[in-house]
Amino acid sequence: MRTQIGIVGAGPAGLMLSHLLHLQGIESVVLEKHSRRYVEERVRAGVLDQGTVDLMLTTGVGRRMKELGLVHYGIELRFLNSGHRIDFKDLTGGLGITIYAQQEVVKDLTNARLAAGGQVFFEVGDVSLHDLDSQRPKIRYGGDGDASELQCDFIAGCDGSHGICRSSIPNGVLTIFERDYPFGWLGILAEAPPSSDELIYAYHERGFALLSMRSPTLSRLYLQCRRDEDINEWSDDKIWTELQRRLAAKKRTLVEGPIIQKGVTGMRSFVAEPMQYGRLFLAGDSAHIVPPTGAKGLNLAVADVRVLSAALGDFYASGDSDLLNKYSEVCLRRVWKAQRFSWWMTSMLHRFDDNGTYDRRRQLAELDYVTSSRAAATTLAENYVGLPIDPICVEHERKYQERSPR
Ligand code: FAD
Ligand code: PHB
Repeated sequence: MRTQIGIVGAGPAGLMLSHLLHLQGIESVVLEKHSRRYVEERVRAGVLDQGTVDLMLTTGVGRRMKELGLVHYGIELRFLNSGHRIDFKDLTGGLGITIYAQQEVVKDLTNARLAAGGQVFFEVGDVSLHDLDSQRPKIRYGGDGDASELQCDFIAGCDGSHGICRSSIPNGVLTIFERDYPFGWLGILAEAPPSSDELIYAYHERGFALLSMRSPTLSRLYLQCRRDEDINEWSDDKIWTELQRRLAAKKRTLVEGPIIQKGVTGMRSFVAEPMQYGRLFLAGDSAHIVPPTGAKGLNLAVADVRVLSAALGDFYASGDSDLLNKYSEVCLRRVWKAQRFSWWMTSMLHRFDDNGTYDRRRQLAELDYVTSSRAAATTLAENYVGLPIDPICVEHERKYQERSPR
């Protein structure tokens, strides 16, 4: 088999890339190791920033998001038992976020690709990459006498943090920057109406808690816990009691309901540089991970493939490799700002093991500052709703739309 772009992974990065390439007439094949059902049911992110929302709308995959997504123009920071609103609309000149589950984005993109005759293959095992530093890189997959080979012009490694693409790059090429945090998040999905209209990020002496949601009848909540927390030690009652404590405010209790999903996620900051080797380009979690406190992971994955699709578009339209050569540099500018923001939100809101009096006082001073200074609140707001898209992408998309008006 032959294709222009071989894409490993059908998460948000891989599917959005395939979609954006298709709109420019570039062919791709997506290879995913899990079943379609598994990928479409995996509960993960929920916050789409303004850049992701706009891209979904302008590229024709935003209809369900527009219908079902919850548009928010602020979040609440809660500490010392009182809530403080960060007003995104006011602070950013009208921008906001949309609450729409990652698996719904994945469904919309998969449906769009398949409806357009796109090639997305699920349950593909034993994927390996070959000849990455040649003009004809290859993906081999499916072992046990059933092996196939996909010859490509380029390969996009969109296979998440545990994929095989990053580790296919020879030793010594990548520099890894990372930071582990001494805690994780215990996340639940509950059949209960959200107890607040907007997300609440709570700083509490027992640890961080987050109130989020998926719909008017589904709540998504998180609790800071140990990295190696055993979920079996957390009965539904124990989870609700702890959430009530940490998210408490005067005269307000959370509406409880049956917990239909729960799990523990470790917290990590990670960047691999550069995001390219030969004809392999890494995008999304395969190249970088942020702790979820800034709600940036999915949005960063989408921003990467926006750059990659522009670079590949230029290459096929005019043979110009300039943007392809700059891919890593352009992406990393945004990646490091998202790293900084996610690290900052995490450091401000969590209880650290060594939370001595000094650190706790400093965190409370930071929260006081962020919620009382317009300048400080604006830095939170503009990062949360998403920093502007790189002008290189905006220019490419404008040129492309002029050439082929939709
Ligand atoms: P993935 O979604 O991981 O997709 C990679 C795909 O590759 C997967 O389908 C995987 O099965 C497949 N794959 C892996 N290995 C192979 C292989 N060898 N062969 C073929 N296929 C393979 N981000 C936000 O922006 N906002 C949020 O609110 C937010 N909340 C989060 C909450 C939690 C609890 C967690 C865990 C994450 C959250 N994130 C959030 C982060 C977000 O979920 C990720 O950043 C996002 O999934 C990255 O997309 P991706 O396409 O790069 O990788
Ligand atoms: C979510 O709704 O899953 C969510 C919201 C905000 C975050 C992380 C996760 O910072």
